[in-house]
Amino acid sequence: MQRSRVNEIIRQADAFIRSFGYIMPPFAYWSPDELKSRRPAGIVDARLGWDITDYGQGKFDELGLFLFTVRNGRAEDLKRGTGMLYAEKIMISRKDQLSPMHRHIVKAEDIINRGGGKLVLELFMSNPDGSIDRDTDVSVPTDGIVRTLKAGGLLKLDPGESVTLLPGVWHGFWGEGADVLIGEVSTVNDDLTDNIFEKPIGRFANIDEDEKPLHLLVSDYDRHIR
Ligand SMILES: [Fe+2]
Repeated sequence: MQRSRVNEIIRQADAFIRSFGYIMPPFAYWSPDELKSRRPAGIVDARLGWDITDYGQGKFDELGLFLFTVRNGRAEDLKRGTGMLYAEKIMISRKDQLSPMHRHIVKAEDIINRGGGKLVLELFMSNPDGSIDRDTDVSVPTDGIVRTLKAGGLLKLDPGESVTLLPGVWHGFWGEGADVLIGEVSTVNDDLTDNIFEKPIGRFANIDEDEKPLHLLVSDYDRHIR
């Protein structure tokens, strides 16, 4: 996708997020040069920041997601069982914009509808080999209440509602009726290794540099900051 489109999405997302009274942390607004010169490990190594993806498919309106990683712990802490074991993201699923079917190996995540339209999740359990189990019912906690769906059933979350997805639960999601502001509260997040997709797609966008970046994306860090 073109950098100009990424910049436009950043501007739109910032306005959308602020319209709900949520404000991103100060480093969100650092220029690429400021991030390069300050280079805090707590931001760069933890891979906090802007993350706009079309999953490498070049059709963001149909297949894509806006994410901003606000905080992220350490994989070593997670292994030790003490320390910073958690992460938080703020995300936007636009109306009818699919985040494709995937599961996580390590990460447990709560996906929270923070406002806007309905958030629809399509859910499956895993077979012992990790592939999609197209037969077994899916039971997921939703704000303390377990809900059970048929395999591939659609869970619809209104603003305020959330679901807990444990590792191995396959999920794809999209906004219904309007764009949706989504919160994610999870265990430590590693988007380089912990996303298993149903189809052979990428996790990050391939960027065509048609203008200067407004802010660097997390996926720019390896190339731009070292
Ligand atoms: Fe996920």
